[in-house]
Amino acid sequence: MAMALVLGATGHIGAHIVRALLAEGHTVRAAYRNPRMLWMLEELPVERALVDIETLEGLPAALQGCDWVFHAAGYYPRRGQSRQACVDRGASSTRRLLEAVAAARPQRLVFTSSAATIAHRPDRPSTELDVEPWPAAPPRSLYATVKIAMEQEALRAARDGLPVVIVNPSICLGEYDAHQLSGRLILAYAKYRVPWYADYTFNGVYTGDVGVGHVRAAARGRCGERYLLTGHTMTLQAFSGIVARILGRRPAWWKLPSWVFNIVAPGVRRMQRLDGSKAVRELGVPQTSLDVAVERAIRWFRQYGYL
Ligand SMILES: NC(=O)c1ccc[n+]([C@@H]2O[C@H](COP(=O)([O-])OP(=O)(O)OC[C@H]3O[C@@H](n4cnc5c(N)ncnc54)[C@H](OP(=O)(O)O)[C@@H]3O)[C@@H](O)[C@H]2O)c1
Repeated sequence: MAMALVLGATGHIGAHIVRALLAEGHTVRAAYRNPRMLWMLEELPVERALVDIETLEGLPAALQGCDWVFHAAGYYPRRGQSRQACVDRGASSTRRLLEAVAAARPQRLVFTSSAATIAHRPDRPSTELDVEPWPAAPPRSLYATVKIAMEQEALRAARDGLPVVIVNPSICLGEYDAHQLSGRLILAYAKYRVPWYADYTFNGVYTGDVGVGHVRAAARGRCGERYLLTGHTMTLQAFSGIVARILGRRPAWWKLPSWVFNIVAPGVRRMQRLDGSKAVRELGVPQTSLDVAVERAIRWFRQYGYL
């Protein structure tokens, strides 16, 4: 059994990593930033550690005695800031963090990247071998550009000898989405009753499967490799249908013109086809249906007053 440090344990993905680790009998040190978010850890039998991944305050102490480190506390760039400033901030904070982790010599670091770093292939679903050129230029979204820059740092650290396994989740749907980053897709239809859908096909994955994927990546993943953690591909129209079915409502009925979608979501690929078979084959990542993922998310949003 391993002693594991989870950075971003109060986040959507981190909360699932913590629960997946406990389910397998590992010991968990849960790192948080904002004490007001500690409710996300409920009464779980974990040690709590205050860590800031940008100033690195609390990190050396939190790393002590850890076999595995999970870095799911990623920096999210905000729109309206300069692209270069966001890239520099994401890359430099990641580099400093990886250097601090390397100094503690853990057996494994699992680095949470994103499927947004995987290059698009118009002819087939993309795999981990499809690498985006760097530097990534517009029209890639700000988020994708920053994530690619951060992943470059993790790949560099792997080449320098840090035992890093990179995981690339697609859009995560499930419980513990307190910051409602991907959950806003669910809330748009469930809470705000958005009547429209767009010509957008995405890959959604149950966050519980992503948590298990992280733990398996630590136990069995190959260092320096990327693993796509994907679930199921679906259109936004079909997705609105799942939410509507769960809530007993009418699905979104108005198709947004493409040019409007391009303004609302600049740089977002309208067709995301991903091949996550490597993680299923090598790590045994489960493939829960999106109906179940959305149902669990809605139940959680209701329980905690988001819906
Ligand atoms: N959600 C998705 O669909 C998805 C898909 C693919 C990849 N990812 C990637 O996965 C990572 C985690 O995403 P998420 O959805 O779990 O995000 P989230 O719910 O916002 O959680 C982020 C976590 O990181 C912590 N954090 C942020 N800045 C920090 C700092 N400076 N110091 C210490 N902790 C800090 C947050 O703490 P507080 O609670 O105190 O804010 C929170 O615990 C990100 O890198 C994201 O890009 C997410």
